[in-house]
Amino acid sequence: MMLANTINKENIETMVMNFYRRVLKDDIVGPFFIAKLGDDMQNEYWQPHLKLLVDFWASIALGDTSYRGNPFAPHTQLGELNRETFEQWLVLFYATLDEVYEPHLADQFKERSSIIAGNFMRNLGIV
Ligand code: HEM
Repeated sequence: MMLANTINKENIETMVMNFYRRVLKDDIVGPFFIAKLGDDMQNEYWQPHLKLLVDFWASIALGDTSYRGNPFAPHTQLGELNRETFEQWLVLFYATLDEVYEPHLADQFKERSSIIAGNFMRNLGIV
């Protein structure tokens, strides 16, 4: 597939779907999602989550206003998240970005996601 040289809602959707396909196969990050949402991205728990995350990234990258929520809150209810879990989340997210976006756009998402991951870790008291 050709790398996207512009960010739009359609390629954010592709990016989010590809990310969670990786997540579900991952032994470190996958179990947290499977515990909350199950292992089938078509199910009634995953569908609203996918839409939420498309809106979340669209609000960050495009200034879209559909996402209203507190992105951090659910992460306090997921059990034992540690540095390794966040690092692996970022590995999976970066790999996904590299297969969807041209490098200069992938870098923008990488920067934002690593800042947010750092904030989440700080809020969770992960050093
Ligand atoms: C250790 C890494 C992470 C794990 C295991 C994880 C897991 C999850 C899970 C299971 C949910 C769904 C919770 C629910 O519906 O009850 C969720 C929600 C969410 N996550 Fe994460 N997450 C991680 C890191 C991140 C990072 C770094 C970001 C952003 C860059 C992020 C953004 C979000 C957002 C926006 C939501 C939806 C919040 C809402 O309900 O409005 N997550 N996460």
